[in-house]
Amino acid sequence: MKILVTGAAGFIASHVADAYVNAGYEVIILDDLSRGSRRNINPNSRFYECDIRDREEVERIFSLEKPAIINHHAAQMDVRRGVREPLFDAEVNILGSINLIEAAVAHGAKRFIYAATAGAGYGEPKQMPVPENYPMNPITPYGISKHTVEHYLFTFRFLYGLEYVVLRYGNVYGPRQSSQGEAGVFAIFSEQMLAGVQPVIYGDGKKVRDYVYISDVVAANVAALERGANEIFNISNGVETPDLEIFERVRDLLGKQVEPRYVPRRPGEIDKICLDISKASHLLGWAPQVSLTDGARQTVAYFKNAAAECASASTTG
Ligand SMILES: NC(=O)c1ccc[n+]([C@@H]2O[C@H](COP(=O)([O-])OP(=O)(O)OC[C@H]3O[C@@H](n4cnc5c(N)ncnc54)[C@H](O)[C@@H]3O)[C@@H](O)[C@H]2O)c1
Repeated sequence: MKILVTGAAGFIASHVADAYVNAGYEVIILDDLSRGSRRNINPNSRFYECDIRDREEVERIFSLEKPAIINHHAAQMDVRRGVREPLFDAEVNILGSINLIEAAVAHGAKRFIYAATAGAGYGEPKQMPVPENYPMNPITPYGISKHTVEHYLFTFRFLYGLEYVVLRYGNVYGPRQSSQGEAGVFAIFSEQMLAGVQPVIYGDGKKVRDYVYISDVVAANVAALERGANEIFNISNGVETPDLEIFERVRDLLGKQVEPRYVPRRPGEIDKICLDISKASHLLGWAPQVSLTDGARQTVAYFKNAAAECASASTTG
């Protein structure tokens, strides 16, 4: 079976593409390399350097490849940029996605798996943990654009019968994560501490997020190939973790002596979120396997190695 994965030069989808290749699927990758890296592209996939907004090129790739499943992760996922440039955010995240959904329908794809966001979607929830049927109240352009695509998928299912699975992620972390994205706090703290820079915490360190390790997110994307048709799932750990705890875990794993610098919270940042993940357990047969302790150890080790490789390349080069 042929699967087209968008955004697989980036953090999450590169791991998803690796898992699909390892499971024996034929994998096509579409990414414009605006973020991500060529190094992350699975060598056993077929890669097209393409902007999802490019209607003609998307059409050409779909007519050539005719993928059975689309796994859509490509996005403008810098929340700050979305605030500064809402039109650009909407062009990539809404129009680019419609482009793919239309091509999927036109070329007979069976299923569309969509990487959505829980953290930027539910707004400031009054109920915890937050279930999927809690009202969406995004408070940033990025949250609006990511959620809007869910409506298109719901509608295209009725209009044309395209199956969908929406995976609303909590804060995903792990190797290859960029410090530029929606929720890159592990990457940011690790890179800053390794470079001897004092990390900044926005707010008082008590903001609460729900973290999920990359291999658990990959497992949800594998389950979504066959299960969960026409459903929306929260994918996270269901554990409340304050910012300061992440800071301390990274600091202790790196053996550094540093305190955070506290600065005022940025607009668009919510106070607390934690997700109800029971629906994914019932209908996808999925549950997170990696504790924050194990995930943090693997993630920080990755950034430590990356910094050491970078340092040795600059001394030898
Ligand atoms: N990282 C998280 O915690 C998190 C949480 C919720 C949802 N998500 C969603 O998961 C997806 C992947 O996130 P990530 O953290 O891996 O981000 P990432 O930036 O590492 O990967 C995104 C990839 O999309 C590509 N891309 C961007 N614009 C494109 C365009 N116009 N055409 C083609 N390719 C384009 C980039 O080059 C990059 O390789 C996104 O849709 C994001 O909204 C991520």
